[in-house]
Amino acid sequence: EVLDAVREAWPASKTIGVRISATDWSPGGNTEEDAVDIARAFIAHGAQFIDVSSGQIVKDEKPAFGRSYQTPFADRIRNQVAAEAGVSVIAVGAVSSYDDVNSILLAGRADLVALGRTHLYNPQWTLQAAAEQDYTGDGATWPLPFKAGRRKPPAARTDAVRPRLSLVREAEEQEQTHLRWIPARKSETSNLVTSA
Ligand SMILES: Cc1cc2nc3c(=O)[nH]c(=O)nc-3n(C[C@H](O)[C@H](O)[C@H](O)COP(=O)(O)O)c2cc1C
Repeated sequence: EVLDAVREAWPASKTIGVRISATDWSPGGNTEEDAVDIARAFIAHGAQFIDVSSGQIVKDEKPAFGRSYQTPFADRIRNQVAAEAGVSVIAVGAVSSYDDVNSILLAGRADLVALGRTHLYNPQWTLQAAAEQDYTGDGATWPLPFKAGRRKPPAARTDAVRPRLSLVREAEEQEQTHLRWIPARKSETSNLVTSA
């Protein structure tokens, strides 16, 4: 009833979805099986995505908290009801690495992964995850003032740091510039205005 009322007031051209608490983590409360039925009911009434959280309903809950701990609920909803209805499922909860994000997506456990506290801990998380995976699309653009730092800092054994040690007496000429501090090359800044 609530979703119907919101759907009616919300422009038809705009997406509407629901965040659910998949289990109450408490005897007698909602269970992850109930969550599938709840998701099915919301989908029947026009929800276009289901964002799957859990708990925070009763004080005496006993959540099984841990890495990616709510993803199994998203997985269950996606694969039992949402995918066949063309509805996206968002996994959330203690996901903190892009490896985990990619694993959840590639395994078909969710359509999107949302990170909350990870971004409070490191507000640059998305930019760094993009840089580390060589992603250069529109989904993560470095603000101009930070753009010079978008290369991952060289680590001890990277082959990016020059000069490299060499055992031959006459090593070939090597560029001595520290890569991180040379201005970005023209090809990388075609859409930027730079000063000297
Ligand atoms: C400061 C803070 C406020 C939050 N407020 C809400 C809220 O109002 N409604 C809600 O559904 N979730 C809320 N959450 C939960 C987050 O949306 C998210 O689901 C939760 O933190 C688990 O994801 P995470 O482990 O990536 O942070 C809040 C979380 C934090 C840390």
